[in-house]
Amino acid sequence: MNGKDFLLIRDFSPSEIQYLLVLGRQVKADPTAFSNSLRRQTLAMIFEKPSLRTRVSFDVGIQQLGGFSLYLSPAEINLGKRESVYDVAKNLERMVQGIMIRTFDHEVVVQMARYASIPVINGLTDYVHPCQAMADYLTIWEAQGNLEGLKIAFVGDGNNVARSLMFAGAQLGAQVWLATPPGYELDAESVQWACDRGGETGGTCTLTNDPEEAASGADVIYTDVWASMGQEAEAEKRRHIFLPYQVDGTLFRRAKRDAIFLHCLPAHRGEEVTNEVIDSPRSLVFQQAENRLHAQKAIMLELMKGEFVKLPGLLELQELMHV
Ligand code: CP
Ligand code: NVA
Repeated sequence: MNGKDFLLIRDFSPSEIQYLLVLGRQVKADPTAFSNSLRRQTLAMIFEKPSLRTRVSFDVGIQQLGGFSLYLSPAEINLGKRESVYDVAKNLERMVQGIMIRTFDHEVVVQMARYASIPVINGLTDYVHPCQAMADYLTIWEAQGNLEGLKIAFVGDGNNVARSLMFAGAQLGAQVWLATPPGYELDAESVQWACDRGGETGGTCTLTNDPEEAASGADVIYTDVWASMGQEAEAEKRRHIFLPYQVDGTLFRRAKRDAIFLHCLPAHRGEEVTNEVIDSPRSLVFQQAENRLHAQKAIMLELMKGEFVKLPGLLELQELMHV
């Protein structure tokens, strides 16, 4: 995957996604082995939306690999207004070795990747949040010991996080359930892709408007905010519509006894999730947040390693990890 972009979980094969996860686990287990792998490489981080986890994990992650980061706020770049996406890409490729970008319109990320000769990593768009999904499955794998056949129930808005969770689940053979209010389902094209890919991996994708059906017997219950960044004006209206989809103790107890609770964060406590659930011993939200660091280090390593850094192959990693 050297030199490739990381825009969409769909762009990769199941074995590539699996490789990145195994590499992420190895990076977590033995970080010093990779402390020079991206020596002196610089990652430009373009943010057009706020962030805690994405900014900190990419910043710390590239430093732990021997490189540097550069934070570029909306005020500095004003992408597409002060300067075109094309011109930004053509400037950055002369000075840095990778670009991480968080923006609204997914097409901007696609254009950046098309124009820049260096790897571009998607740090969230309105459409998807692929780095989040890698950390999510790393966490599920750590907690449950496997991924294939697990019932993963996303309850809430059919948004960017839900879509990436579904795409990655299809790649990894999981059974993803999405319980949303009517009218807030994921789009049919995304669901069709997941069903088709699931046909190859054993994964499934089921849509419902019934949160209890999704939660029943689940291995993982996942939720996210009801109004994403950019949808603030709809927040009040959505609060009423989504209330029956709140993950509270009663809903969570429908899952398996050893089920885990996940949330990409930031959370709106008392809205999509109650304190009882997010603060319970079954909640792994902070382990999940930490795993952004390890999963993204694996992504940066694989994409930005260049021709001289040799990373262990899948079989070698599986032997190291005993998986
Ligand atoms: N989960 C996540 O992407 O968090 P931030 O918005 O804080 O980066
Ligand atoms: N769906 C949320 C995720 C935040 C990490 C948003 O886009 O705001």
